[in-house]
Amino acid sequence: MKVTIFGASGLLGKALMREWREDRVTGLSSKDADVRDPRQVKDAVEGTHPDWIVLAAAYTDVDGCETNRERAFAVNRDGAANVARAAKEHGSRLLFLSTDYVFDGNKTSPYEVDDPHAAQSVYGRSKAEAEVQVEQILPGSCIVRTSWLFGAGGKCFPDTILKLASTRAQLDVVNDQLGSPTYAIDLARAIIQLCRKGAKGVVHVTNRGECTWFDFAQAIVSAAGLKTIIRPTTTEKFPRPAQRPKYSVLSASGLDHYGVGMPDWQDALRRYLIERSSAGNPDF
Ligand SMILES: NC(=O)c1ccc[n+]([C@@H]2O[C@H](COP(=O)([O-])OP(=O)(O)OC[C@H]3O[C@@H](n4cnc5c(N)ncnc54)[C@H](OP(=O)(O)O)[C@@H]3O)[C@@H](O)[C@H]2O)c1
Repeated sequence: MKVTIFGASGLLGKALMREWREDRVTGLSSKDADVRDPRQVKDAVEGTHPDWIVLAAAYTDVDGCETNRERAFAVNRDGAANVARAAKEHGSRLLFLSTDYVFDGNKTSPYEVDDPHAAQSVYGRSKAEAEVQVEQILPGSCIVRTSWLFGAGGKCFPDTILKLASTRAQLDVVNDQLGSPTYAIDLARAIIQLCRKGAKGVVHVTNRGECTWFDFAQAIVSAAGLKTIIRPTTTEKFPRPAQRPKYSVLSASGLDHYGVGMPDWQDALRRYLIERSSAGNPDF
């Protein structure tokens, strides 16, 4: 199988490049092909002849999207449409990465794949509109929604908490947003299986279980053996430009249908910390 990954230099992209060993994989960053430019996308696809395209490229700065709306829609929505068109012309299958931010976060039970979009942020709207475009241009694409991504090789929540905890005696972390942390390596492995199984439609892929950012921070500090005290606080006390969903747990029933299992987030965190430590991170 030949695979082309847009966004190969990102958090997920790096994990995909590391885990995807048995197929012929080409990884592209924005320097290789800017998804905003249909010509660059077409050339990249025609030059690599992929059976599958994985579109992990995105403008992921959720707060930055609020002030750079034009860039958010150009990269996330129009870029996805450009890749879907190139995939259609070339006859490639497409797996597109989306997000829990397409929902409003008002539910209290896991979001199902067919729950309606109700994004509360520019980032969420740009990804929701991308989903619609991808489905219209190339029906039968696979749309993988994930959440709270963490892993090596990029800025992520556990890394930030460990850096802060190494210099502070206490940290305040919000305790009123509930979601599912997802280790980039586990997501990459699931994506590889989904491509091999010819997955179609929307599939939710996160690590199992749910927690608040406060719970997550406590688990990180405790697993790392640090003494920093984590104190619960509220979203109201930490206003950010983009609204975050209060609840964004995604139902795994679609993934179960393909027989793909995901480890729970505590197990994922343990493996991430080992990976971070063996990479010789000086802060750990
Ligand atoms: N991070 C999360 O918590 C999270 C949660 C839910 C869903 N997701 C989704 O998961 C996917 C992967 O996220 P991530 O955290 O791995 O992203 P990331 O680390 O921010 O990486 C973004 C990637 O997109 C590329 N990119 C940005 N603008 C581009 C452009 N105009 N043309 C081509 N490539 C461009 C970047 O390339 P350069 O390095 O060259 O800039 C980089 O490879 C995204 O679709 C994101 O929306 C992420």
